[in-house]
Amino acid sequence: MTSKSISLLTTVAELRHYLAQFYIQLNASGPKFRRNNAFTKIGFVPTMGALHLGHLSLIQRARYENRLVIVSIFVNPLQFGPAEDFQQYPRTLTADARVCEQAGVDVIFAPSAQELFPMIALNGPVTQVVPSSQLTERLCGQSRPAHFQGVATIVAKLFNLVQPQRAYFGRKDAQQLAIIQRLVADLNFPVEVVPCPIVREVSGLAYSSRNAYLTSAQSQQATVLYRSLQQAKRAFYSGCRDRTTLITTVEQELATTPDIKPEYIELVDPTMLTPLVEVEDTGLLAIAASVGSTRLIDNTLLHNRKPIVAIDGPAGAGKSTVTRNVAKALGLLYLDTGAMYRAVTWLVLQSGVSVSDQDAVAELVEQCQIELLPTSDANTPPRVVVNGQDVTAKIRSLEVTAQVSAVAAQPAVRWALVKQQQRYGSTGGIAVEGRDIGTHVFPDAELKIFLTASVGERARRRQQELVTQSIATISLEQLEQDIEQRDRQDSSRSIAPLRKALDAVEVNTDSLSIAEVTAQIVTLYHQQFS
Ligand code: PAJ
Repeated sequence: MTSKSISLLTTVAELRHYLAQFYIQLNASGPKFRRNNAFTKIGFVPTMGALHLGHLSLIQRARYENRLVIVSIFVNPLQFGPAEDFQQYPRTLTADARVCEQAGVDVIFAPSAQELFPMIALNGPVTQVVPSSQLTERLCGQSRPAHFQGVATIVAKLFNLVQPQRAYFGRKDAQQLAIIQRLVADLNFPVEVVPCPIVREVSGLAYSSRNAYLTSAQSQQATVLYRSLQQAKRAFYSGCRDRTTLITTVEQELATTPDIKPEYIELVDPTMLTPLVEVEDTGLLAIAASVGSTRLIDNTLLHNRKPIVAIDGPAGAGKSTVTRNVAKALGLLYLDTGAMYRAVTWLVLQSGVSVSDQDAVAELVEQCQIELLPTSDANTPPRVVVNGQDVTAKIRSLEVTAQVSAVAAQPAVRWALVKQQQRYGSTGGIAVEGRDIGTHVFPDAELKIFLTASVGERARRRQQELVTQSIATISLEQLEQDIEQRDRQDSSRSIAPLRKALDAVEVNTDSLSIAEVTAQIVTLYHQQFS
């Protein structure tokens, strides 16, 4: 039912009409769609336009998780101070519409200031939402006193208009995110706020619409922001938890680029935004700095937990062996998602429910509990326990193997297992592979790898495997065609499509041995975390 072409709406009346039609059609599509599940939801991405890959990552996530995706493009006058760049702010609606269309957005809501705030032009009264000063006075609030009030006002207004079930915000604007989360909790907006990781250029510079103001020399200088945060992150992962050392580390690195003028360097609690003397659980290390007349912000989260390594890539790139080896080399738990799908399949077969009865399967999977229990010997895979029963051997039966794809393809199974996987990841210290681990299951993973290999190389490897297993030989040409087709299917499927996370490191395994690939990932890990 998702509309085929994108709708560009510019008035409140048009938006209300569109949403009314959406709900009428939804109700007419039968009980499956009426149920308040992932496939009936509206995902909302508020922006000020001049869209870049940071925005795109939010849009892609929203597209993945919702039936309808609405992007707003509105340069909000209320959040700009009198001496700020409201007039100059880039406005690129035609290009933005193209980006949205390609990303499968359903609706762009791009009203004028006159449409949303007619009183501004008349110098008349405008009702505003005032977030707690405890959140707005610090960090960026010191130099932008009315900014967050303007942000809270427009976001509240857009939530009322769009009435989304989910709204996507970038961690790039960490203070904004904390303020919106507080707003939603305190005023009981029925919206789930979904925080999304910072997307960066290869140089490390975080994407921002304001990067358009930078000369190429300034863009180069601005990369020191990320480098300084990385230095502090390394210090953090090697055991340093205290405020003074972490902030000094950033200061010293920033000082290597005199054209960068720091405004603040702060270590705060990511939710309360209160200064931290020491990071106990999670700290937000945030910077604001100017280069020329452009003000830039950047930050990093410091989690007091072992990192998560997420490895995605096409079939046949060697993901599972490499991930197992990486887990072993780094002392992480290998989260065997394949075993989890097998465990559910075993449960379905065992309970006598038909694999094709999606509602019954959904009920079973929603209620089941899967545990992966590490064994004392690092070479033996974890034991798999379902609802208290050890099924480690049983999930490898031919019967389970024959049915696992049909079970795994069911949306309800996938949603339930992703939730269980995320629970495992909440304490960190795991290595996990798949197709959408870095993009969807663990978008905040500390290290994301996209493992790939050319079609020819993967075909050669597959042929080698078949020879080793004494299975009838298939021509390389045929194998290449099969792999190409599988890649196409994997990237276009509606559930868990294969996609490289925008912040993933690509490792091409052509002409590399498993040991070499493992070593490369282990080195990347050590560069960042020790
Ligand atoms: P804007 O700066 O356009 O950003 C829109 C969303 O994109 C915000 O949630 C922001 O955090 C996110 N974003 C920007 N750069 C990003 C990056 N490099 N990586 C990840 N996410 C990124 O923020 C606003 O607009 C406005 O204040 C708004 C919320 C729309 C209210 O007017």
